[in-house]
Amino acid sequence: MEDLSPRKEDLEPIEIASIDEIRALQLDRLKWSLQHAYDNVAMYRKRFDEAGVHPDDLRQLSDLSKFPFTYKNDLRDNYPFGLFAVPRSEIIRLHASSGTTGKPTVVGYTKTDIDNWADLVARSLRAAGLRKGDMVHNAYGYGLFTGGLGAHYGIERLGATVVPMSGGQTEKQVGLITDFKPDGIMVTPSYMLNILEQYHKVGLDPRETSLKVGVFGAEPWTDAMRKEVEQAFDMHAVDIYGLSEIMGPGVANECVETKDGPVIWEDHFLPEIIDPQTGEVLPDGEMGELVFTTLTKEGLPMVRYRTRDLTRLLPGTARSMRRMEKITGRSDDMIILRGVNVFPSQIEEQVMATGGLSAHYQIELYKSGRMDAMRVYVEAAMDATDELSKTAAARMLTKRIKDIVGVSTEIVVGDPGEVERSQGKAKRVVDNRDKG
Ligand code: DLL
Repeated sequence: MEDLSPRKEDLEPIEIASIDEIRALQLDRLKWSLQHAYDNVAMYRKRFDEAGVHPDDLRQLSDLSKFPFTYKNDLRDNYPFGLFAVPRSEIIRLHASSGTTGKPTVVGYTKTDIDNWADLVARSLRAAGLRKGDMVHNAYGYGLFTGGLGAHYGIERLGATVVPMSGGQTEKQVGLITDFKPDGIMVTPSYMLNILEQYHKVGLDPRETSLKVGVFGAEPWTDAMRKEVEQAFDMHAVDIYGLSEIMGPGVANECVETKDGPVIWEDHFLPEIIDPQTGEVLPDGEMGELVFTTLTKEGLPMVRYRTRDLTRLLPGTARSMRRMEKITGRSDDMIILRGVNVFPSQIEEQVMATGGLSAHYQIELYKSGRMDAMRVYVEAAMDATDELSKTAAARMLTKRIKDIVGVSTEIVVGDPGEVERSQGKAKRVVDNRDKG
C-alpha cells in the first residue's frame, strides 16, 4: 500500500495547535453555542430553566456537566422544525433519518453550517490520505441520508473530482471504478463487500484497481473487517464517523498514518463520555456513551446530545485533538442473551477469524421455548462450498463464539450469496423473538 500520509503544511493550523489553544477556542465557542440555544430554542430555554442553569454559569468547560442532556426523542417531539434556532427561511438544506419507529428526525443547516460541514469532510478526506486533484467515487446514498451529499460537498471542497454514484447498482459501481480509475472510494463497509463480490463475479482482480483508500463509515465495522478489505483491494481502509443530529459524516475521521481510531474535530464538537445509566461524566480512557455538544452549529445547535454510541476518548496522536476508539457498538444494538451482553461486532470478529467463510453475516434472535436464542447466518467462501467444509466451518464458528464471546449459537452456513446484502447500512440483527 502506498504511503498516503499528508504533508504537515497541508494541515490546518488548528489540527496541530496546542491543547491549551484548542481548549480556549472550545470555551469561547461553547459559551456562544449555549447562549444561542437558550435564546432561540424554546425547548433549551425551558430545560435550562428547569435545571436551574443559565449559559452564564459556564465558566470552564467542565461546567457543561450541569446542563441537561438532549435525546433523539426530543427531535421527534419537536418534529419537524421545533429545535431550529434560526428562522426556517435561513435553513438552506434539510436531511432526515427514516427511523425504525415513529416520526423521522429532521435536521437543518444554514449556509454557514453547510460551509463548515464541507470544510470538515475535506479535512477528514485529507486525514484519510486524499488530496486536491484526486478522484473520489462516492457510493454513500444520496437523498435525505446525510452520507451522500455530506461526502459530496467535502470531496468538492477538497478540490477533488467527485463521482456522485450513490448506493446500489453494484455492477455499474464496478464498471465506473474500472473505467474512471478513482483514487478513493466512500461507502459503507458492508456495501464495499458487495462491490468486492462483484469483482469476483466478473473475474476482475480487486487488487488491480486504481483505489488507494476507502473511507468507510455510517455503521460499525471491526479491525478484522479492515484487514479483510485492505488485503482484498490492496488499499488503505480508514474510518469516518458522524451522525445527522450533530452534522453528518465528518464529525471524526481516522488518520491514514496511524489508523488508531477517528480524531474528533474538537474545534466544532465537544465530546464527553458518560455512564449511560447515571449520566455521570467519566474521565478520558473510560468506556461509556458518547455525548456531543456542537460548538458552531447555527441551524440546529445540540447541547449534550446522547448518541447511544459506546466508546472511549483517547489522547491525540497524529493530531492534537482527541480520538475516539473505533466504535464497535451502540447501546441499542446490544443483545442480552441469557445474561451475556453481545454486540454484533463480536460475532463479526469471529466470522472473520473462521476459515472457509465469507465476510457476510446476519444474526437472528428467536424464542426457543421460553428462552431467547441466537442463530448466525453465514456463507461458505467460494472455494469451500462442499458439505464437509461447511460443517467444519460451522463447528469452528460455534466453538469460537462459545469460547470467546461466551454464548451458544446455532450456525447456518449457506452458499455464497444467501445472506441478505446491504445497499447502505447493513441490517445485522433480525429480531424474531415475538414471532412465536
Ligand atoms: O451515518 C452519517 C455518516 C454517513 C457517517 C457516512 C459516516 C459516513 P446517521 O444515519 O444519523 O448518520 O447515523 C449515525 O451511525 O450514531 C453510529 O451509531 C453509526 N455510525 C456512523 N459512523 C460510524 C462509524 C450517518 N464510523 C449513527 N463507526 C451513529 C461506527 C458509525 N458507527
